[in-house]
Amino acid sequence: MKFERTDLLGLEDLTPEEINFILETSESFVEISERPIKKVPVLRGLTVVNLFFEPSTRTRTSFELAEKRLSADTVNISASTSSAVKGETLKDTARNIEAMSIDMLVVRHSAPGAARFLADVLSCPVINAGDGSHEHPTQALLDLFTVKKKRGSIEGLKVAIVGDILHSRVARSNIWGFTKLGARVIVCGPPTLIPPEAESLGVEISYDLVRTIRDVDIIMMLRIQTERLKECFFPSIREYAELYGLDSEKLKSAKSNVIIMHPGPLNRGVEITPDVADGPYSVILEQVKYGLAVRMAVLYLLSGGEFKGENSDQKWSDS
Ligand code: NCD
Repeated sequence: MKFERTDLLGLEDLTPEEINFILETSESFVEISERPIKKVPVLRGLTVVNLFFEPSTRTRTSFELAEKRLSADTVNISASTSSAVKGETLKDTARNIEAMSIDMLVVRHSAPGAARFLADVLSCPVINAGDGSHEHPTQALLDLFTVKKKRGSIEGLKVAIVGDILHSRVARSNIWGFTKLGARVIVCGPPTLIPPEAESLGVEISYDLVRTIRDVDIIMMLRIQTERLKECFFPSIREYAELYGLDSEKLKSAKSNVIIMHPGPLNRGVEITPDVADGPYSVILEQVKYGLAVRMAVLYLLSGGEFKGENSDQKWSDS
């Protein structure tokens, strides 16, 4: 089977079948990172540019390692070292990079819609690595993949997404992903950090963390997106942490097999205490580990690769 899309811009666009196909393909890439020589030739000869206009540790490293493990040639460009600081437009930057015959572009930008804008301008595939507060599709795919690995299936699970829902692209992409695959999603946070359109996205709303976590299977904690807060949304960090920070005391009311997730970076002591982040229910580092396999799958499928099934002799076609 082939993935018929030319870009990955968000999970809102994808069907449940397409999401499941990416997750299934991702499974086949997990073992590459466990080999002594972590490399396969499926993107040999292709060039991928990672264009990051916002800070990133996990996502940028994960994309670069995924590209390298698929044998692509990679180039990283960050805002501070690009001609954006000299006044060049995003369109000009992207078109100039494309003029050097690149095969794929991974972009992170603070403007919602930036990835779609570039997908319309460029002829190579574009992958959205986060566009402002809009979407972060590979993060949600890796979150879905991690939950599938832990629970076998997404359908019927109850998922709480907690924190700054208003400014979080991770929340938005996960709402699309989990609801499309049949989970129930509850968003929880202070009223000022819940977007007005939340209900129309098919989720429940809660302002009470302790009550919310009592019967959910997954708790996804989010960082307050301070870089996007233009006004004061809550009285103090201390009060926020008291009401919406996950600590071991609040966790006592959760199910005994609850899974705790966080996309990183963590603000320890604010949305999550260190003992919970590093504790037995946390899958935070597994999310990072599986992110690599998911990004390998996305890069592979968008390069036109076919996935022939886990049991096939040759799972992937060489480029
Ligand atoms: C997230 C992001 O950049 O949106 N981080 C990530 O990609 N792992 C979440 C965040 O910054 O809080």
